[in-house]
Amino acid sequence: MNYNKKSILDIDVSGKRVLCRCDFNVPTKAGQITSDKRIVAALPTIEYLLNHGAKLILCSHMGKPKGEWKPELSLKIVAERLSQLLGKEVIMASDVVGEDAMAKAAALKEGEVMLLENVRYMKGETKNDPELSRQFASMAEIFVNDAFGTAHRAHSSTAGVAEYLPAVSGLLVQKEVGIMGKALADPERPFVAILGGAKVSDKLNVINNLLEKVDTLIIGGGMAFTFQAALGHNVGNSLLDESKIDYCKEMMAKAEQRGVKLLLPTDVVVVDHFPSPIDAPVEVMTVSADAIPEDKEGVDIGEKTRAIFAQAVKDAKTVVWNGPMGVFENPTLAKGTIAMAQALADADAVTIVGGGDSAAACEQLGFAQEITHISTGGGASLEFLEGLELPGIACLQDR
Ligand code: 3PG
Repeated sequence: MNYNKKSILDIDVSGKRVLCRCDFNVPTKAGQITSDKRIVAALPTIEYLLNHGAKLILCSHMGKPKGEWKPELSLKIVAERLSQLLGKEVIMASDVVGEDAMAKAAALKEGEVMLLENVRYMKGETKNDPELSRQFASMAEIFVNDAFGTAHRAHSSTAGVAEYLPAVSGLLVQKEVGIMGKALADPERPFVAILGGAKVSDKLNVINNLLEKVDTLIIGGGMAFTFQAALGHNVGNSLLDESKIDYCKEMMAKAEQRGVKLLLPTDVVVVDHFPSPIDAPVEVMTVSADAIPEDKEGVDIGEKTRAIFAQAVKDAKTVVWNGPMGVFENPTLAKGTIAMAQALADADAVTIVGGGDSAAACEQLGFAQEITHISTGGGASLEFLEGLELPGIACLQDR
């Protein structure tokens, strides 16, 4: 996909009121932000707009308040963190499109920045209500979408508002779509994709789409067991989606037809009982992937598999990874996921990690600096890999 959307670099923002949608949906614990990665990722756009004299109105969602005013999902903590990062005041509105937000937006001076309250406090937001979109638009002269993580949602503040204002992308959206778009459209080869995570059903279209692009497709995590079952292997108590066995057979046939190497685990780490709580100490053994005992459950890829997958990554020039190889939350069952993060970090290739657990793995393990691009989008990067048009990007002006 060629990125052909206008960005903030293509327009004059000086003296203009700019409404910029960010994805500040950051993880929190006990009222504290536990990773500010998404706020940091929005800084280049925010700083560019402020340095170019915009009167900047930022907005975002946090969590899923479903139209209710839930104080624990207030964006105040984001305003505080952003203000520290920018070294300047971030004016916090006490509402979304109410009197306070409107008055503060109207009073903004060039180079000043404010943040609206959680857009999902408004019932119309997730319904893409035109009235709410119009209210957002009434605050500004330009709409900038820099919320890649929310670009797969057609909501008032991500897409609807673009009906009423000139709309361009921010630098984060431009970067995300540029890097991932190039990998999909014109990758340096060999191109290897690694998919993991619990369910095949979450990645049906991703597998199908990637089989048309890659040289090697690696499948690990819980979803690999439905492929093993499709090969006629016993998977014991492992995660299995019987309704998707035929689909897996179809995908294996498609891989063969297209000459794509499809790599599945050859050995598997198994347990008697899934750990509860998830990070509780657990006894494991490793068995061959085609002979998982009836009473065992596969929870990670085995050592031989790790080596085979790592070798495929080593030989690659482009690698895309989405989804953990095992129960990454448990240190004993995280070894396959760690091995993949290490393989990407060591690779002499363009390496791209989709958001969610695989991104968290790279960050927590300290490999983030060695990866070419870690997406800020979970669901959004998955839909992008599916080859879908993202509404938050489709609504922006073409160059
Ligand atoms: C995410 O965390 O993936 C994005 O912020 C989108 O959130 P949502 O799934 O609640 O729309």
